[in-house]
Amino acid sequence: MAILIDGKAVAAAVNEENARICAELTDRYGMPPGLAVVLVGDNPASQVYVASKVRKCGELGIYSEKIVLPNDTAQETLLDVIGRLNGDPRIHGILVQSPPPPQIDEEKIILAIDPKKDVDCFHPFNTGRLLQGDLTGNLPCTPYGVMKLLEHYRIPTAGKKAVVLGRSNIVGKPMMCLLSAKGTDATVTLCHSRTQDLAEELRRADLLVAAIGKPEFVRGDMVKEGAVVIDVGINRIPDASKPKGYRIVGDVAFDEVEPKAAAITPVPGGVGPMTIAMLMRNTVRSMERILR
Ligand code: GUN
Repeated sequence: MAILIDGKAVAAAVNEENARICAELTDRYGMPPGLAVVLVGDNPASQVYVASKVRKCGELGIYSEKIVLPNDTAQETLLDVIGRLNGDPRIHGILVQSPPPPQIDEEKIILAIDPKKDVDCFHPFNTGRLLQGDLTGNLPCTPYGVMKLLEHYRIPTAGKKAVVLGRSNIVGKPMMCLLSAKGTDATVTLCHSRTQDLAEELRRADLLVAAIGKPEFVRGDMVKEGAVVIDVGINRIPDASKPKGYRIVGDVAFDEVEPKAAAITPVPGGVGPMTIAMLMRNTVRSMERILR
């Protein structure tokens, strides 16, 4: 039986601390930290994520602005919105929900966000610092959340073989930086859909982080006995027996992998709640850095 890594509980602890920092900052500066969440279009999953982020701000005492723009929003319009938010002293964090509709050039949007307000850690200024081993700025929310889980459960990483499955800018690549950083000291292999002998690579992992975005991709025979398995996937698959007509599964076939793992994150309730908790942490820390 694997230890079930309880992301909801760890996120609640992080958020308790977030609320405390938020209250302190509000007291010190006479205004709360502020987060702007921009959603372009009507992607159903994005709508759910954005609503959760705004709700969490409210619970913690963080001021939030939710800006919803139509599907056919022009690049220039979105850039104007970002320009306004960059100059707004009530706003310390700006997040444009990904993925945007196809007419939007996401790279240009990310470049337009003031790096000091880049709570996603997507701006090349911030990703560059991360690559150089500077962990003092905002850290990318999901990989940061994974690190918090490892820390909370005291999962040893030094010298261990960590395999990251997925090479996205949002998870895989920053995850590789954090796991190999000084102090964490894992030996990291970055795998992806084109990796040769992928199953064999995965089977070498002491720590496996699955972020490939394919439902139940990691099967029981791809995992070493005693591995720690972190499932970053959030995939909707059709399920007529559910009221919504779908259910959420991770990138790991939980029932097959759990019996072999030493510890594993469930989906939902594993990494998901951590992402939002770390976004809130980045928002309060951004305010501290901006006003210091
Ligand atoms: N889409 C999925 N995850 C994220 C995230 O962490 N930040 C943003 N901006 N978009 C996302």
